[in-house]
Amino acid sequence: MEPKRPQAAKKLFIKTYGCQMNVYDSDRMADALAPHGYAPTTEIGEADLVVLNTCHIREKASEKVFSELGRLKELRDERRAGGEDLMIGVAGCVAQAEGEEIVRRSPVVDLVFGPQSYHRLPELIARAGQGPVIDTEFPEEDKFEHLPAPAREVTIKRGLTAFLTVQEGCDKFCSFCVVPYTRGTEVSRPVEQVLAEARGLVEAGVMEFTLLGQNVNAYHGLDSKGRSVGLGELCFRLAEIPGLERLRYTTSHPLDMTDELIEAHRDLEKLMPYLHLPVQSGSDRILGAMNRHHTRATYVNVIERILNARPDLALSGDFIVGFPGETEADFEETLSIAAEVGYASAFTFKYSSRPGTPGAAMDDQVPEEVKVERLARLNDQIMGQTRAFAQSCEGRVLPVLIEKRGRNPGQVGGRSPYLQAVHLEGPDRLIGTIQPVEIVKAGNNSLLGKIVTVTEPKSATYIESQALPA
Ligand code: SAH
Ligand code: SF4
Ligand code: F3S
Repeated sequence: MEPKRPQAAKKLFIKTYGCQMNVYDSDRMADALAPHGYAPTTEIGEADLVVLNTCHIREKASEKVFSELGRLKELRDERRAGGEDLMIGVAGCVAQAEGEEIVRRSPVVDLVFGPQSYHRLPELIARAGQGPVIDTEFPEEDKFEHLPAPAREVTIKRGLTAFLTVQEGCDKFCSFCVVPYTRGTEVSRPVEQVLAEARGLVEAGVMEFTLLGQNVNAYHGLDSKGRSVGLGELCFRLAEIPGLERLRYTTSHPLDMTDELIEAHRDLEKLMPYLHLPVQSGSDRILGAMNRHHTRATYVNVIERILNARPDLALSGDFIVGFPGETEADFEETLSIAAEVGYASAFTFKYSSRPGTPGAAMDDQVPEEVKVERLARLNDQIMGQTRAFAQSCEGRVLPVLIEKRGRNPGQVGGRSPYLQAVHLEGPDRLIGTIQPVEIVKAGNNSLLGKIVTVTEPKSATYIESQALPA
């Protein structure tokens, strides 16, 4: 759609729930609206349009949306009393799952649109004046072809790291999960489209990408010759872009860890040695009921193959406790696989029954108090593992991407290859460089480091004059 005639600037406030893909999508929505006169604001009180970009994964996440809509109704009533207005949109996975039910429950909503309609947002807004607009179709066209790229200054403002969706949707149908219904079947973006987006962002200063997909390692995009390319090869291609320094990807499924992707971990210095590979449970009985298509042994075998290729790789995972039928013995197998794999960190969840999923219809739902107790035990163990991993970094020299000023003057902050926050003494001009940093101390949520030698920008005076306190 052609940008409209220049109009008075309107303010857009997007509130993002859920996963990294929603964070990426929210930016793309802002990019789609920028040519139509919408400027982002961080003050909900001054917004002309509020979009809630929602998550349906657990009951709590989806219910949050309706309490937020209650507050927005008050805001809109105030506006209208003063002769102004406020448009309210619901996007994301709750929009996709519940569609017009949202308007029925919350008539304050003007717009409901699913993740495959974001490129149509300007058109939907134009229609919303004449009553609520619902768009939850899975259109034929490729939305990415129609979503405008952000302006260079916008990318610069967003920082040195960026998300980049390469794949969307899921064909795995784990029996607890709504994602295959909310995001649809697997679609991979063409290789050239991904490379072009990456080049544009690198040109505006982005140094690190996290490639996103609900099942990102099932990526199979077509290249310019019509050949299907896997995530491993895509990483090799991206790594060739000068100025692109670091690559990550999430979320992966154990079944799709191909040899080529493991070779990428072996051969690509730019591919960070940190992998999120959810297992959900350590019990084969529960993995079967979850429809995960792998056993504990096949999962552990995948981990061994990856660690053979890249011994300094650390892992993170996702776990669900209290899936229907989970016994104490099953749960103990979850504790034991977490220890056996030695995750450096993990996300842990109580099973939440989701409408329309096979898990919701299963007998033997686990009582809430049992879930609470198991979650606490698993969290205790994972916290210990995370602490132990951070302590194992003490004395190591890790490359740190310096991203921003630190809390105190003369300090800067960045990220280790393992996504740990690292604080250190150093001048602002190190921001936007990767420095070898010796980890001095592991704190609760971050590491304290000191620069070993400044590698970039090369400056002997800097090294001499800034001898750092231990
Ligand atoms: N694309 C991601 C899934 C996103 S959901 C992936 O394949 O990993 C992220 C995590 O939420 C899942 O790994 C799972 O651990 C958890 N989760 C999904 N559905 C859930 C449910 N019904 N109850 C509790 N946790 C759930
Ligand atoms: Fe959900 Fe399973 Fe697909 Fe992940 S692999 S998105 S958990 S169905
Ligand atoms: Fe939530 Fe949808 Fe992401 S359900 S986790 S926002 S894919």
